[in-house]
Amino acid sequence: MSGIIDLRSDTVSKPGEAMRRAMSLAEVGDDVFGDDPTVNRLEERAAALVGKAAAVFVPSGTMANLLAVMTHTRAGDEILLGDQCHIFNYEVAGAARLAGVQSHALRNGEDGGLDLAEVEAAIREPNIHAPRNPLLCLENTHNRCGGAALDLGTMDALTSLAHGHGMQVHLDGARIFNAAAALEVPAARIARDCDTVSFCLSKGLGCPVGSLICGPEEFIREARRNRKMLGGGMRQVGILAAAGLYAFDHNIARLADDHANARRLADGLRQFDAFEPNVPQTNIVVAYVRRGTLEGWLSAFRERGLLAVPFGRGRLRMVTHLNITQEDIDEALRRVREAVEAVAV
Ligand SMILES: Cc1ncc(COP(=O)(O)O)c(C=O)c1O
Repeated sequence: MSGIIDLRSDTVSKPGEAMRRAMSLAEVGDDVFGDDPTVNRLEERAAALVGKAAAVFVPSGTMANLLAVMTHTRAGDEILLGDQCHIFNYEVAGAARLAGVQSHALRNGEDGGLDLAEVEAAIREPNIHAPRNPLLCLENTHNRCGGAALDLGTMDALTSLAHGHGMQVHLDGARIFNAAAALEVPAARIARDCDTVSFCLSKGLGCPVGSLICGPEEFIREARRNRKMLGGGMRQVGILAAAGLYAFDHNIARLADDHANARRLADGLRQFDAFEPNVPQTNIVVAYVRRGTLEGWLSAFRERGLLAVPFGRGRLRMVTHLNITQEDIDEALRRVREAVEAVAV
């Protein structure tokens, strides 16, 4: 067997030689004083890429979302979001515990969107008994919806509904550049009507660490204060920012390759009646297990050096990324075939 093929997430991608070289050469300073020129450059470029006035560098996508929620709301508010979204499912209820907000989770469609009428019905009338609804959170691409790239029409309708009710919109754009590649529009167009947007450097862009929150100057100033409160103020962090700058130049344009690899993987999996994969729009393959057990397949794959993760009841997830080639996909499918022949349920 050749090496491990790790499809658990795009977060497992490792920085290559050139990115490491850029990191080692980074000019640095104390970023809490605003003195790190590389971080300052990263934040400027990040804001420009998504069409916002300012940005702040944070350690993770989870902290980016928490800071966005915390900065948009007051304790005791209620946020509206999708029941499949990352904030609601995978962020340890930080919005509740640390931002002090209640989440009203609305049904996500398979496309990662929300039903307009359901959102409208959820927005509360001002009332002494009711929490305020200052914020709607969207996610694009949508992880649990199989990397769906939410289309612009749906985004526009949701943002305009929210704004019509005096709400702000935060976009969890952890993989916004995957969405941009799939929709063939600039990331700034996707984020255009969202008041704030966060995105990750450590997923498809292949950096070791980091996310950015982008939005209006004043909002970002306040988010920076909240970042300090959470212990996310970092010092000579230009070493990490340099990886991000490298990724902007080299790793955005190649995301379409990951999408082609994901389609190839899903097409291959579909040949086995044990699996029913999505038709991936981006780099995430989610497959229902139709025969055998999820745990059984994951362990049969693991024994053959192929790594995937459980993804809800009876579903597994495989994600393509920077370190996965088309040959790796073909080899992964060969290992799946071997597992199917060995398990033979
Ligand atoms: C859509 C989405 N948002 C946020 C995050 C959180 O990112 P991090 O793992 O950097 O905290 C993830 C991570 O997978 C994600 O998929």
